[in-house]
Amino acid sequence: MPKKVIFEDPAGEGPAITLERFEIPDDVPDTELRHRKVPEPDPHYVDLGMLYRFAQLEHARVSGAEGLVPLHVAVRGHMGTGKDHDIEQFAAAMGLPYFRIPLTGEVRDVTLIGSTRLHGDGKGGTESRWEDGDITRALRGPSLLNLSELNAAGAETLFALHGLLDRYSSLDLPTGETVRLRPDVRIFGTMNPTDLRDYAGTQTLNKAFADRWVIWEKNFPGGEQVEAMLTRRYPRLKEEYVTAIARLAVEVNASFEAQDSGVRVETPLSLRSVLDRLPTGLVVHSDRPDPLRQAWEEYVLPHVDLFDRDHYETVWNAVVRKGPAVKPF
Ligand SMILES: Nc1ncnc2c1ncn2[C@@H]1O[C@H](COP(=O)(O)OP(=O)(O)OP(=O)(O)O)[C@@H](O)[C@H]1O
Ligand SMILES: [Mg+2]
Repeated sequence: MPKKVIFEDPAGEGPAITLERFEIPDDVPDTELRHRKVPEPDPHYVDLGMLYRFAQLEHARVSGAEGLVPLHVAVRGHMGTGKDHDIEQFAAAMGLPYFRIPLTGEVRDVTLIGSTRLHGDGKGGTESRWEDGDITRALRGPSLLNLSELNAAGAETLFALHGLLDRYSSLDLPTGETVRLRPDVRIFGTMNPTDLRDYAGTQTLNKAFADRWVIWEKNFPGGEQVEAMLTRRYPRLKEEYVTAIARLAVEVNASFEAQDSGVRVETPLSLRSVLDRLPTGLVVHSDRPDPLRQAWEEYVLPHVDLFDRDHYETVWNAVVRKGPAVKPF
């Protein structure tokens, strides 16, 4: 009996979705590796809605409804909004080996698709042999491929992937072999929005390539969502701190999205700042008179460009001014 997994709608509106977890057969290449690459569920993960949407799409796909072709989701959002984490947690829930493959500009076709290499033939001569690249290797068995930084990919990489992503659903290797998309392979992608701000090395996605994805936006989390993530991960963190950090995050990120370049901040407050760095600063400085201020100065401000510090301070003064006068934990 295949194991089941249930996805609840965090908004409380849609029905719970039950899906069958994938199995890893013994007769695929890299069976051991695939077992090891199924991610652990993160006990601190809070579904802000994306995991449930993935489950809805998956449900439609396995329902066998007539005419549907496999769709691939690209999650678009600013740095540190949790895109990769959502995709990884979907792999964990579904029991799929997770292959995260960054497509940054320097990555060449040969790394992703493969290349022909020379090997000793054991008789003093050499012979050439095809070696799979990262994507090809992942496609040979059950896998969830996360092609991250889609909009940093070079043209030749995009071109190599076109056929895989449309209804042809296959990758043609230079050897003449055709690697078909298995029913137990899922392809996802992530990218940063390029309309609002510059991300080094990224560009607007090539139209033909973009058309091969369903693009879903990952917005900055709202105040209640930040609070939920903080309390899930740090159950002993005092409420005053939870509220203050959540407000800082919301206000900084609202300012990041503001139109008026005179007042807006140029660096968003990422979930890594909020969930990893600030709480660490609070532990380090828990005995100081104003631990939040101290943590802010040492664990957040250094990530902000010098010219942007004033804007960050404006938000700090508007939202907190003075941190809570109690110990954080
Ligand atoms: N839904 C969530 N619940 C709990 N923690 C989360 C959640 N989403 C993200 N995080 C935390 O935030 C961190 C950043 O998330 P992630 O790396 O997925 O961001 P990203 O959007 O891929 O960023 P980038 O664009 O910079 O690659 C993760 O390491 C994780 O600890
Ligand atoms: Mg990422």
